[in-house]
Amino acid sequence: MTNGHLQIVVCAAGPAADVTQLVTTATQQSWTTAVTATPSALDFIDAAAIERLTGHPVRSTYRSSPGIRRSLPATDALIIAPATYNSINKIALGIADNYAMTTIAELIGRQVPTVVVPFVNAALANRAPFQRAVANLRDERVRVILGTADGWEPHPPGSGNSRQRAFPWTAAFEAATLMASDAPVSSTDPG
Ligand SMILES: Cc1cc2nc3c(=O)[nH]c(=O)nc-3n(C[C@H](O)[C@H](O)[C@H](O)COP(=O)(O)O)c2cc1C
Repeated sequence: MTNGHLQIVVCAAGPAADVTQLVTTATQQSWTTAVTATPSALDFIDAAAIERLTGHPVRSTYRSSPGIRRSLPATDALIIAPATYNSINKIALGIADNYAMTTIAELIGRQVPTVVVPFVNAALANRAPFQRAVANLRDERVRVILGTADGWEPHPPGSGNSRQRAFPWTAAFEAATLMASDAPVSSTDPG
C-alpha cells in the first residue's frame, strides 16, 4: 500500500548530492519515488545509490535501459530540488530542451502538485528574469519555497557549501504531500 508516487527532479547544484534524504523521508511515509536528473546534475549525484533506494533507474534522457519499463507509476506529486537559476528560468518559460524539462513542463500542465526549491545565491536571485520566473510559477500554482515566510532565503555568493546542509528537504516533502492531499488526481508519466 502506497500513499502516492513522488517524482523528483534534481538540477546541477550542490544539494543534489543529498537527494537521498528526500527519497528516504518519502519512503518512510509510504510514498514511492523516482529521480530524474538534468544532464548537468548527473555529475552531482550518486545514481547507483539513488537507484538502490528508489528501485527505479535515474532518468536523464528519453532513452531507457533494455528490460526496464519505460513508463513510471502515475505521479501524485513533483518536487524539483535543488532547482538551479538556469532551470527555474527555463521552467517558467516552458522550455523543454531535455528530458527533465519536458517531464516538468508536462506534469505542471497536467496540474500535478508541484514544489520547487531553489538553490541560488543572492546575486542571481536579484536578477529580474529570476524574480519574474518565480512569480510566474506561483501564478501557475507551483509552490516555490523561497522567501522569509518559508525560512529559505538565497545565500550570499560563495557560501553555497555551508548552506547545503540546511537545504529544506523535509519542508519540500510536507508541501508536496499537502498539495497532493488537496488534489488527489494522479497523472501518468509523460516519458
Ligand atoms: C560546482 C558547481 C556548483 C554550482 N552550484 C550552483 C548553484 O548552487 N545554483 C545554481 O543555480 N547553479 C549552480 N551551478 C551552475 C549550474 O550547474 C549551471 O547553471 C548548469 O548549467 C545548470 O544546469 P541545469 O539547470 O540543467 O541543472 C553550479 C555549477 C557548478 C559546477
